[in-house]
Amino acid sequence: MSKIEVKLGEIPEGKNMTFKWRGKPLFIRHRTEKEIATEEAVDMAMLRDPQHDKDRVANPKWIIVIGVCTHLGCVPIANAGDYGGYYCPCHGSHYDASGRIRKGPAPLNLEVPFGPLAFMAGKLVH
Ligand code: FES
Repeated sequence: MSKIEVKLGEIPEGKNMTFKWRGKPLFIRHRTEKEIATEEAVDMAMLRDPQHDKDRVANPKWIIVIGVCTHLGCVPIANAGDYGGYYCPCHGSHYDASGRIRKGPAPLNLEVPFGPLAFMAGKLVH
């Protein structure tokens, strides 16, 4: 088990930061009110891997996903792509700001790694 402690307050609103967790990139994004509203309003019928935004976050301000494309494992680029979330340049997969696959060859959403997240005094502790 590898532990991680992140001071969420150090991630500016609208920005994604990459950490390393269990040998993989871990993306933590501090979402804006607009991004939260947009992702919560997405129609499930539009999604390849239907999952409501509320089921992917412990606190809607932060989306936390493994930064590994579910197609063939490249590391997507943050704040890029047609849906303003993540873009995988290897074969062109577009993910939204909830890390859900929206376009391109990837079959699944970016993985949400933790079950119960512990937010303690502005920190994510796992
Ligand atoms: Fe990401 Fe192929 S590995 S689109």
